[in-house]
Parts: sequence; structure tokens; C-alpha cells
Amino acid sequence: MKILVVDDERLNLKVAEAYLKNMSGEFEVILCQNPLEVEKLVVENDIDIVLLDIIMPIMNGTEVIEQLRKNHYLNDVQIIILTALSDAETFKVCFDKGADDFLKKPIDVNELQARLKAAIKTRNNAKILKKMYQRLKEQNLELKELNKVIKEAQFYMIQKEKLASIGELAAGVAHEINNPLGYVGSNIETMNNFAEKIKQVVDVYRKSFAGLEQLETQNKEGQAYFTNVHDAERKFKFNFVMDELNSIMKDSGEGIERISKIVQTLKNFARTGAENETAYSNLNSTVEEALLIVKNEAKYTIDIETHLEEVPEMECNSGQLGQVILNILVNAIQAIKAQNRSDRGHITIMTGSAENSVFLKILDDGPGIPEEVLGKIFDPFFTTKDVGQGTGLGLSISHDIIVNKHNGMITAGNNPDGGAWFYITIPLKKEGTDCL
Ligand SMILES: Nc1ncnc2c1ncn2[C@@H]1O[C@H](COP(=O)(O)OP(=O)(O)O)[C@@H](O)[C@H]1O
Ligand SMILES: [Mg+2]
Repeated sequence: MKILVVDDERLNLKVAEAYLKNMSGEFEVILCQNPLEVEKLVVENDIDIVLLDIIMPIMNGTEVIEQLRKNHYLNDVQIIILTALSDAETFKVCFDKGADDFLKKPIDVNELQARLKAAIKTRNNAKILKKMYQRLKEQNLELKELNKVIKEAQFYMIQKEKLASIGELAAGVAHEINNPLGYVGSNIETMNNFAEKIKQVVDVYRKSFAGLEQLETQNKEGQAYFTNVHDAERKFKFNFVMDELNSIMKDSGEGIERISKIVQTLKNFARTGAENETAYSNLNSTVEEALLIVKNEAKYTIDIETHLEEVPEMECNSGQLGQVILNILVNAIQAIKAQNRSDRGHITIMTGSAENSVFLKILDDGPGIPEEVLGKIFDPFFTTKDVGQGTGLGLSISHDIIVNKHNGMITAGNNPDGGAWFYITIPLKKEGTDCL
């Protein structure tokens, strides 16, 4: 315990010191003759108990108490006033200002011991309380941090859940579209056959018609019928219609085929359902499928170039890989579009293989990723986009899919001449397992 004794009379200080030194218990005693220095000494020496004389020149005890109590860190320093006074009024003021106890002068050693014992007890309790309060504060902070992490994880789960349900919906819609698409496609094929037949019959009609026309050149009434037919043919551009019929049918057939492919792709993408479901598939097909989906987003502003080398099939969840490619492409498209530039943007997609793995590299010529941000882009919820534009989940989910679900690697950086790159490698087989 550290005790500060404050008295303007040196003799009194010495007496108090002698008493304290003789007492049992570990005391460190500091003496102070100048009341102006009390606060400084208390703070500097981390004093526990102050024995304070009341009547002093320069600054009296009540003022010292006031000063100490103003400092909220010194709230629980025990102040025992030393009073020779019969002045009850000052005595009262001392307690009003925050004194804890009093001792009558001249000091009686037993009384001093008793008062000190009480003060030490109070001081120790205050210290324990303070420590507990500090610990509580820390625990509260820890809890707040944990709460934040839980909330983020919850949001992450909800987003994943949402993605999954959107996937299911997409699969449902794709299935619904498939049915009418099937009969529209086969109808178009039939119509094409019918058109061919109609054309052949019309050909016969026309030839016979031309023959008849030749025979009836003298028949004025008959000629009027021929003219009507010629007029109608001109009016409705019959030759053009007959010529175009086939190519229109062909175009429509191709259109339907494309729609079928997109729907099929959507179904594949949506089939991410079973998280650990894997099968052998080709990375290039997954790239092509992802491209089919983002093409529309890019067509007016960005050229997408592909260099797809032949790659071996690998064991993977192609729906999830498609999601990764899509996330990276959408980010690149968004980054380029945000530049509001006058020239067209450029994205390059490359695939290839090494001995036991395949790789995918996607480069763009957008603004690139600021160096200070580069270390955070795979963190959940990290986004530089405005609220509502980005969730900051795309790359963290991609990281999870590549690293945790496929034992692969995903890295990102900036090209020397601007724009960002993303590099992914995936082992052909999941390590340590022959099949899944
Ligand atoms: N091609 C890119 N060019 C520039 N910055 C990018 C690119 N791809 C990703 N980023 C940065 O990485 C951040 C995180 O991306 P992502 O996880 O997909 O979340 P979000 O797209 O919702 O912001 C983006 O906000 C952006 O700052
Ligand atoms: Mg994104």
C-alpha cells in the first residue's frame, strides 16, 4: 500500500512516518509538505491512501480533496483527514467534498491502525471492482466482435441460401421453357418441310399457268384473269416471299437451337444444388457456357476473346466452376463499364493444362485493382461498390469453391499495362481420393 501523508508541519510528517513504519503491513510512505503537489504525487506514485491535514497555508485540505475528486481516475483513492479542529463546519465540508474518514490530532496509534485497516480494505475492494469492470468491458468488446462475426456469417449463409433458391427457380423456369421450346422447334422443322412442298406445288402451278397463258393469248377475258394473278404476285412480292421462306425457317430453327442451348446451360448452372456432387467435365465447355450467359452484358461495350487450349476432363462440380467464371467475368465487365470510356473494353480468357492440373486465366483492360485493396478482395463482404451494387461475396464464394471445394488455387493481380488478372489452377483429381 502506498500512503501519502500531507501536512505543512515537517514535525507532524515525521511523527506520522514513524508511526506508519512501526506498524505491521507493507507500507510505502511518501511525505508531502506542499499541498499544491498532492495531485501530482498521487498520480505519479499511484497512491492508495492519503492522510491529509486540513489547515494548511497556500491551499487547505478541503481544496485538495476537491481537486483530487475532480480527477475521475482518483475517485477511489482513500482520503483520511487529520483534524485537530473543533470546527464542525469544515469537518462537514471535507466529507461533502469526498473525504472517506477522519483521524483526530494528535494521532493515536491505535486509532490510526484501525482507520488504515478500514481504508486498506475499501481500497482493495475498489481495486478488485475496477479490475472486474475492466474485464467486463473487455469481455463486452469481445462479445460485440463475436456478435459481428456471427451476423456476417448469418448474412453469408442467407446469401448462399438465396443463390441456391435462385438456382432452383432458374432450373424450374428452364424446365418449363424446355417443353414449349421442344414443340416450337419441331413445328418449325415441319413448317420447313411443308414450305418445301408448297414451293414444289407452286412451281407446278406456275409452269402450268405460264403454259395456259401462252395458249390463251387471243382470249381477252382469259387474259384479265392472268393479269389479276400477276398483279397479286407483284403486290405481295410473291417471288421474294418464296425465296425468303427457306432462309427464314432456317434462321428460326437456329434461333430455337440457341435458346435451347442457353436454357440447357442455365439448367446446368442451376444444378449446383448438391454441394459435393462432382463429375468429370471439360473446363472449356464450362467457359463457353458462362460466356453464353454474360455475352449479352458485354456485347455493346466489350470484346471478349478466348484462347482455349485443349484440356483434359477433370473431376469437378461444373456448376460451381461456372459460377466462379461468371463472378470474375461480371466483375471485369462492371469494372470496365464503370470507366465510362469511349473505346471498347477487352477481356481475354485463356485455358490450358499442366501435368496434373488445368488452368484458367482471365484478364481485362479495366482500371485494375488498387494495390491497397488487393489483399482484401477475397474477404467476405469486401466491396468497393456502392450499396446495392455489390455484396462483396462474389470473390469470397469463388475462393471457397476453388480452394476448399476443388483443392485448387486462385490469385489476382494487375497487368503491367493496366487492368486486372485472375488466375485459377485446379487439380484434375481431388487429392487423396480416387473417386468421390
Ligand atoms: N476485374 C476487376 N477490376 C477491378 N476491381 C475488381 C475486379 N474484380 C474484383 N474487383 C474488386 O474486388 C471487389 C470484390 O469483388 P466481389 O467479391 O465480386 O464483390 P462485389 O463485386 O460485390 O464488389 C470489388 O468490389 C472490386 O473492388
Ligand atoms: Mg462481384
